[in-house]
Amino acid sequence: MENALNLDTVRLAENKKELILLDQTLLPNETKYITMDKAEDIWEAIYSLRVRGAPAIGCAGAYGYYILADQLETDNMDIFVAECTKIMEYINSSRPTAVNLSWALNRMHGVLMAEKEQKTVAEMKLRLMEEADAIYNEDIQISRNIGTYGFELLEKIGKGAGIMTHCNAGTLATAKYGTALAPMYIAIEKGWNPKEDLHVYCDETRPLLQGARLSSYEMQAAGIDTYVQCDNMASYTMKSGKIDIIFVGCDRVTANGDFANKIGTSGVAIIAKYYGIPFYVCAPSSTIDMTMETGDEIRIEQRKPEEVTEMWYKERMAPEGVGVVNPAFDVTDNSLVTGIITEKGIAYPPFKEAFEKMGIRPVEKFVDKQ
Ligand code: MRU
Repeated sequence: MENALNLDTVRLAENKKELILLDQTLLPNETKYITMDKAEDIWEAIYSLRVRGAPAIGCAGAYGYYILADQLETDNMDIFVAECTKIMEYINSSRPTAVNLSWALNRMHGVLMAEKEQKTVAEMKLRLMEEADAIYNEDIQISRNIGTYGFELLEKIGKGAGIMTHCNAGTLATAKYGTALAPMYIAIEKGWNPKEDLHVYCDETRPLLQGARLSSYEMQAAGIDTYVQCDNMASYTMKSGKIDIIFVGCDRVTANGDFANKIGTSGVAIIAKYYGIPFYVCAPSSTIDMTMETGDEIRIEQRKPEEVTEMWYKERMAPEGVGVVNPAFDVTDNSLVTGIITEKGIAYPPFKEAFEKMGIRPVEKFVDKQ
């Protein structure tokens, strides 16, 4: 089984004209890269979760913005800016909840707006490629830093730690290393024996099975003692005393520390509180949206009913015509969160003050005024 750290989730092709994505809908059975340069294909890849995970869709969005901007056949900067605005809005419409997508698009567009008077269109295209590369490369370092802070918590628990996670916030969800799974990659780098020192429990994560298909694959491929469990088994495992700590990723954290993550996360947090298990959220600072005060402001993506009733089943398993609830994310209340691990350090409550002390501020938004 290929170590997932060797796979490139998102990358710009050598010719600098195409986006190459690892198609995550096929994992763990097939490792296939797909290449694209059309707006509709990039939109579809993000919508269909071929690329997924908040930081990874940020990187895909940034490269998508550059690739489509580079195709524009105009030397007129006003026309270029107007067309780039449409590109940004179109890509951003693919998924609403993870702020990293709009954050990356806003960052790309911010460069364009700030430097458009000083550059020709040709120079600007190169500048946009540099910015997309910077977003990608920074994400690798950010994930490593999150992993290093998370590993300090594992060291306090000691070798043999039991870790639970929900969804996939691993290397597949970022440029490399991941957020919630990064501490385990760092532990292995530091010499921990994956099979004996780390025991990772992955919630399967209904309905799209990111935990069963992706997290358990990543962790097992790294040699870690890995278990997959149905989402409704989390309480059983926590009660059994096997879980020392919970690491989850997130799609958007608001100023007060509420956060959106994959549907089911809030239930895990509630159960963890009951059993007194520390619950940590792993968040690049780009996921912290200081323009929103509380989680009530976050728009939750609603997805197709077939994901619940048909996908993964040989035959449709619920009666035709039945109503279906399929929110892709839920919001966990900050009171259930022990700490938020960022690349700048671990924030503890009260979160707003902690974020401000870390220098995390609201960013200018051209899109994503939810
Ligand atoms: O719908 P998905 O698979 O994109 O949801 C992903 C998650 O909820 C992750 O936990 C989150 O994006 C953090 S990834 C580092």
